[in-house]
Amino acid sequence: MSFLSVENIHHVYFTPAASTLAIEDISLSAEEGEFISFLGPSGCGKTTLLSIIAGLIKPTEGQTLLEGEVYHPSKKQDIGYMLQQDYLFPWKTIRENILLGLKLGKNEKASAEISALKLLNDIGLPQVEDQFPNQLSGGMRQRVALVRTLATNPKLLLLDEPFSALDYVTKLKLEDLVFTTLKRFNKTAVLVTHDIGEAIAMSDRIYLFAAKPGRLYKTYQVPQELRSLPPFESRNHPLYTDLFQTIWKEFETIEEPGAKH
Ligand SMILES: Nc1ncnc2c1ncn2[C@@H]1O[C@H](COP(=O)(O)OP(=O)(O)OP(=O)(O)O)[C@@H](O)[C@H]1O
Ligand SMILES: [Mg+2]
Repeated sequence: MSFLSVENIHHVYFTPAASTLAIEDISLSAEEGEFISFLGPSGCGKTTLLSIIAGLIKPTEGQTLLEGEVYHPSKKQDIGYMLQQDYLFPWKTIRENILLGLKLGKNEKASAEISALKLLNDIGLPQVEDQFPNQLSGGMRQRVALVRTLATNPKLLLLDEPFSALDYVTKLKLEDLVFTTLKRFNKTAVLVTHDIGEAIAMSDRIYLFAAKPGRLYKTYQVPQELRSLPPFESRNHPLYTDLFQTIWKEFETIEEPGAKH
């Protein structure tokens, strides 16, 4: 049994005017501590699938299992979902934003607060807890959002293009930070990205999707030599370039209409 199993997911969006087959027959899995990526062109159903795994959307067909169990609202804290935009509440301080998701008793809350503030410090943001989001840069806010996602100690992290709004240098730094933080806590994570290099540098396995309808096109196991390296070092390894070229060529075929596996 895998830690995360996605089994034969189909999803159709119905609107009064039309129905859209967003994703068709997707099955995949992740073991505990693995980092997997969903890579693919716009509209191939990456966010839809992430929302299904998070329990926010009920799929038309199929099921997802976390540790062998279907999602139940009481297990909400098991899954941390970090969205593309940071969604910090502007009227709340950084401390209040970070502690927002914690629904615990008084004592547990105090110790969770200590570890969340320590993580904020580890992530390079000491002494910001009493500031407001608009006093921080975009990269700083993304780091706060990451701490907030980790503060509830979820078993599974879902990251929907968390770096896409950042400048290149900040993005590379945050990739390393997220990678090392997740490895340190042995977290299982799913990253959604358009960026082939980011998927290779961060993941153990890459699921490449095609669009119209959204479906799984190919799966790439990232070589062990790259998996053990932090993303910045991975990008300098010759095997990185080889895999980049392979996926790049596939990407071109996917973007042609009617591409079949
Ligand atoms: N709420 C919705 N109602 C109707 N159709 C939707 C809805 N959300 C998404 N879709 C459609 O489902 C398909 C998949 O969308 P989704 O947002 O999952 O793609 P994506 O891979 O995340 O794209 P992007 O990379 O642009 O974020 C698209 O055709 C989209 O138009
Ligand atoms: Mg999306």
